Amino acid sequence: MPAKGSFEEGDQKKGANLFKTRCAQCHNLGEGEGNKVGPNLHGLFGRKTGQVEGFSYTDANKAKGIEWQTDTLFEYLENPKKYIPGTKMAFGGLKKPKDRNDLITHLREATK
Ligand code: HEC
Repeated sequence: MPAKGSFEEGDQKKGANLFKTRCAQCHNLGEGEGNKVGPNLHGLFGRKTGQVEGFSYTDANKAKGIEWQTDTLFEYLENPKKYIPGTKMAFGGLKKPKDRNDLITHLREATK
């Protein structure tokens, strides 16, 4: 079943704050910053799942095979374990569509 709603432009500043508090302990965004517990997200948009070199993904994450875009992230980040059963990303999800919109608006710029 597809997630309710789809991506809409959000507030980048709020998204940056959400990234800092909810994602940054496990992910870098900048080019060449390396992997943490999770893979570096630089260049995420337009890339298929599980492509960061030197990061040891689960087979589930690698095999998902979708391209990361605003709409796939919108669905994934609501409930990562539902979108990719078997993922080792220990994150429950952002249930509010507005939070996901803000975060994805930030990611789209900050991962370039
Ligand atoms: C507790 C650590 C942790 C937190 C918090 C976390 N992640 Fe992750 N993330 C991971 C791990 C580990 C993976 C790899 C999962 C796998 O291989 O199954 C991952 C995978 C991903 C992927 C897939 C990357 C790819 O190349 O396919 C995206 C996108 C992602 N995370 C975004 C986020 C965002 C955005 C947040 C904040 C809302 C977040 N993550 C919070 C650990 C985390």
